[in-house]
Amino acid sequence: MMQVSDTIAAFRKALDAERAAGKTVGLAPTMGALHAGHASLIDAAARSCDVVAVTVFVNPLQFGPNEDLAKYPRPFENDMALAAQHGATHILHPSVEEMYGPTGSTVLTTIHVAGITDTMEGAVRPGHFDGVATVVAKLFNAAGPCRAFFGEKDYQQLQVVRQLAHDLSFPIEIVGCAIVREADGLALSSRNVYLSPADRAASIVLSRALDAGAALLRTDIEDLDAARNEVARIVAGEPRASLDYAEAVLTDTEVRLLVAAKFGTTRLLDNLGVPR
Ligand code: PAJ
Repeated sequence: MMQVSDTIAAFRKALDAERAAGKTVGLAPTMGALHAGHASLIDAAARSCDVVAVTVFVNPLQFGPNEDLAKYPRPFENDMALAAQHGATHILHPSVEEMYGPTGSTVLTTIHVAGITDTMEGAVRPGHFDGVATVVAKLFNAAGPCRAFFGEKDYQQLQVVRQLAHDLSFPIEIVGCAIVREADGLALSSRNVYLSPADRAASIVLSRALDAGAALLRTDIEDLDAARNEVARIVAGEPRASLDYAEAVLTDTEVRLLVAAKFGTTRLLDNLGVPR
C-alpha cells in the first residue's frame, strides 16, 4: 500500500516511522507527469532502499514569468499508479500553500548555489536554480536521512543538488541515474507532450548532434571546442530548432556535452558523457 501525504508533517512522520523500524529510505523528487525517466529513478530507489518516497510538486519558484507553470501537466492519478507500479511506498503531494504559505508571501529564505549556476540553464533561466535549490532543500528536510535519486537528464541540476547537499550537510546521499530515451534517441521529458508532430520529428537532432560530438571526442578527447562546435553546427542545421547553447565540460572522468534548444515554444535539454 502506498501512503499519500499532502502535508510535510505527515510525510516526515511516515518516513521517521520507517527509519525507526530499521528501514532505509529512497527519495525521488519530481514535478509529476511521470514517464519512464522518472520510473527509472523509482526503480533504482526500490532496488537499493527498503521504502521509496516520491514527491510530486510543480514548484512555482523554479519557473520564470514567461515559462509554462500554468500549463505544466498535472495528471496526479496516473502519477500515483505509475509510482506504485515501480515500487513507491510513500508519496508527498503538497499544495503550493503547504510548501510556501498563502500566496507564497511567507518565503523570505531562498538558497543560492554560486558559480556552477552561472552558465547554461542558469544563464538562460535567471533564478531557476535558486528555485530548484530552495525546493530541494525543503524536500530534503521533509524526507530526512535517505538516498536521493536524480536524473542525469538535468545534468547541471544534479551538480547543483550534489553541491547543496554537501554544503548544507544534509544526511543524504545523492545518486545520479542515466538518461532514459525514446527509441529514436529523444530524451524523455514531461515537456515532450507539447511538441507538434513536426517538432517531435525535428527534436531527434539533439541526440544526433551529441552523438556526432561524442564521435569527435573519441578521436580527440582534448578538443572540446571541436566537439562543442559540431553539436552547435548540427543543431543549427535543423530549421525547426533554435539553439540556446552547446557546451563541452571537462570533469575528472569524462567530457560532458550539453545542449539546449527550443522547438516552437518548447525548450528541450540533452547531454552525453564521453569517458576520458
Ligand atoms: P522533473 O523534471 O519532474 O524531473 C524529476 C527527476 O526526473 C529529475 O531528477 C530528472 O533529472 C529526472 N528525469 C527526467 N527525465 C529523465 C530521463 N529522461 N531520464 C532520466 N531521468 C530523468 O527535475 C525536476 O523535476 C525538478 O527540478 C525537481 C528536482 C523535482 C525540483 O522541483
